[in-house]
Formats: sequence, structure tokens, C-alpha cells
Amino acid sequence: APSDPDLVERARAAKEKLGERVFVLGHHYQRDEVIQFADVTGDSFKLARDAAARPEAEYIVFCGVHFMAESADILTNDRQQVVLPDLAAGCSMADMATAEQVAECWDVLAEAGVADVTVPVSYMNSSADIKAFTGRHGGTICTSSNARRALDWAFSQGEKVLFLPDQHLGRNTAVRDMGMSLEDCVVYNPHKPGGGLTAEELRAAKMILWRGHCSVHGRFTLDSVNDVRERVPGINVLVHPECRHEVVAAADHVGSTEYIIKTLEAAPAGSKWAVGTELNLVRRLANRFAPEGKEVVFLDRTVCFCSTMNRIDLPHLVWALESLVDGKVVNRIQVDPETEKFAKLALERMLALP
Ligand code: 13P
Ligand code: SF4
Repeated sequence: APSDPDLVERARAAKEKLGERVFVLGHHYQRDEVIQFADVTGDSFKLARDAAARPEAEYIVFCGVHFMAESADILTNDRQQVVLPDLAAGCSMADMATAEQVAECWDVLAEAGVADVTVPVSYMNSSADIKAFTGRHGGTICTSSNARRALDWAFSQGEKVLFLPDQHLGRNTAVRDMGMSLEDCVVYNPHKPGGGLTAEELRAAKMILWRGHCSVHGRFTLDSVNDVRERVPGINVLVHPECRHEVVAAADHVGSTEYIIKTLEAAPAGSKWAVGTELNLVRRLANRFAPEGKEVVFLDRTVCFCSTMNRIDLPHLVWALESLVDGKVVNRIQVDPETEKFAKLALERMLALP
């Protein structure tokens, strides 16, 4: 639906009043009505890197989800305040690993005698607590655009990796990109005693994958891929690495949201693409590339938005911006100093990856 012209005007006016005092970041999964007001758009890596690009801006309005806003708070200076226009914009995957569960897992690894040789690698899609755990135990953060480099680094530091919380990104990177076998990977289930694994299994594994996943990308199946290939001969299948392993294995190209955009930008006119990621982005790309004669379709036949990304809508953005104009900081995201210290260590390791 087209955005309400009154709200569009109010958002524009509030941004203009705030001028350089506000810096608006927008993840690619955001609604069109919101993304039009972003000063910078990007995948999780680009947004983490760019968050600190305007040290003079008093306010960072983060149009994305909670873990991204936390990371922005960690990576910006203490004078800058980060605002998430709707506090209900969480991430169900990030919620699948709590600090208590991860501490318990580390004890399980210690009992099996493998904690000393294990390096934690945590996906950006995790709480600041999990990032702090990662920093404390000598690990790094990764995103979908640098998971391979993060794992290469981790295996130069230890023999095993505990990969949190997305089992699919961990498995896909290890098997598809690094030539490990599926047998090198075990899945730690936080809801079972000992993660549901024996000490033997933990000792034999190279990748200990946390049992987390993205429910949005989990909807794509091998059938979705086979089906679209049958319907549209010659179509290229381009998916996000949060998809299940069999989907990624059957795809032609795999990468982060930024990679997906770059791939379509470079694609020749007349090419056809089925894209397996969140629907706001796929629709935007379909509209953008249609005039260039590139056909972009959604990989599945069912609708697949990220409901929490969608919580940030124009009314929430207008409310956040107008509050700032009135001198009120609403929905501030602030990580406590002790958590921030170790989470920052892990994030900076990622930013320093070759
Ligand atoms: P990227 O934009 O880093 O590819 O991540 C996708 C995602 O799921 C963010 O929640
Ligand atoms: Fe989380 Fe999946 Fe939504 Fe990304 S798309 S924010 S991983 S639920």
C-alpha cells in the first residue's frame, strides 16, 4: 500500500528539523515507507560498520531489529543515543540463545574436555549478552557476509567452533564454502540435557552448531527450488545463507542481502532470478530491476515477511523522529557497560577480519 502522504510529510519535516543531529540507518528488510528515510541502507555488516560513521550525530535511529540497535550502541560513542522506533522489533532467532543456556553449554563443553580448544563464533543475530560471552571466550562475531573469514580465523585459534545461534549459516559456511562434511557438524540442543550430545560426539565434531534458525528463511524448501526451476526454465536461484542446507546446496548463488543486491545489479538484461529471502526486499528488487528487463520473483509461493522487521512502520518512525524534535528520546537502546566491553571486543575482532 502507498504510504500515508501526511505521515510522509511529517517524517520529512522532522528529519529536516533534526538535520545532522540524527542519522537514520535502515536494514534492507525494512518496509519501503521506512527505507525511503534511511541515510544509509545495508546488510548487517555494512550497518555495523557504518553506525559509527557520523560521530557528531546525537541520535542514531535504527530501522531494523533489536540486536542491530544494540550493536550500533556498542560501536558508537557514549554521547550518541540509539533509538529503535518499536521495541517489539526483536528477532526470533536471536531469542533462541539466552545467556544462561550458552553458559550451560560452555560447562557441557568443559566437562567433555573440549572448551579449551573451542572458539565461539556468534552470528550478529544474537543479543549483546551472547556477544559478550563470545568476546570473553576469545571468539568473534560474524555476519552472513563474512562467516567464511570468521571461521577461517577461528580455526587458526582453536580446533573447534561453537557456532551461535544459527545452525544453518554455520553448517552452510562449513560445508558449502569450506569443504567440511555434514558429519563434521553436530547440533547442540539447549532444551536437552548435555545438548543431546555425548562427550564422544563433542570430541569428534569440528563445528558445534547451536540449534537456532530463522523462521522466515526456514520456510524455503527444496520443493520451492525444484518448483521454480520447473516453472521458469533457465532461472537462477539466489538465496540467503540462513536457508536450510538442502536449499543452499540446490541454489546457484548464496549470500547476504547486500550480496543479493550486488548480484542482481551485475546480472545481464533478460536474466531471470528466484530470490529466497525476506519479501520486502524481494519486492523492492523486482520493481527496481523490471525496467532493465531482469525478472525477479520470490522463491516461494507463500508470503514471507519478517514480522519483527515489519514492526518498524511509518507511524513508529514519525513518532520517534518527532519525539526527538521535541527533545524526548524514546525507545533508547542502551547496553550496560560491562556487557558492552566484552561484546565490543568480539565485534571489533569481526571488523578487523582480513
Ligand atoms: P544480512 O542483511 O546481513 O544478510 O542479514 C539478514 C538478516 O536476517 C538480518 O536479520
Ligand atoms: Fe531474525 Fe530471520 Fe527476521 Fe532476520 S529475517 S531479523 S534472522 S527473524
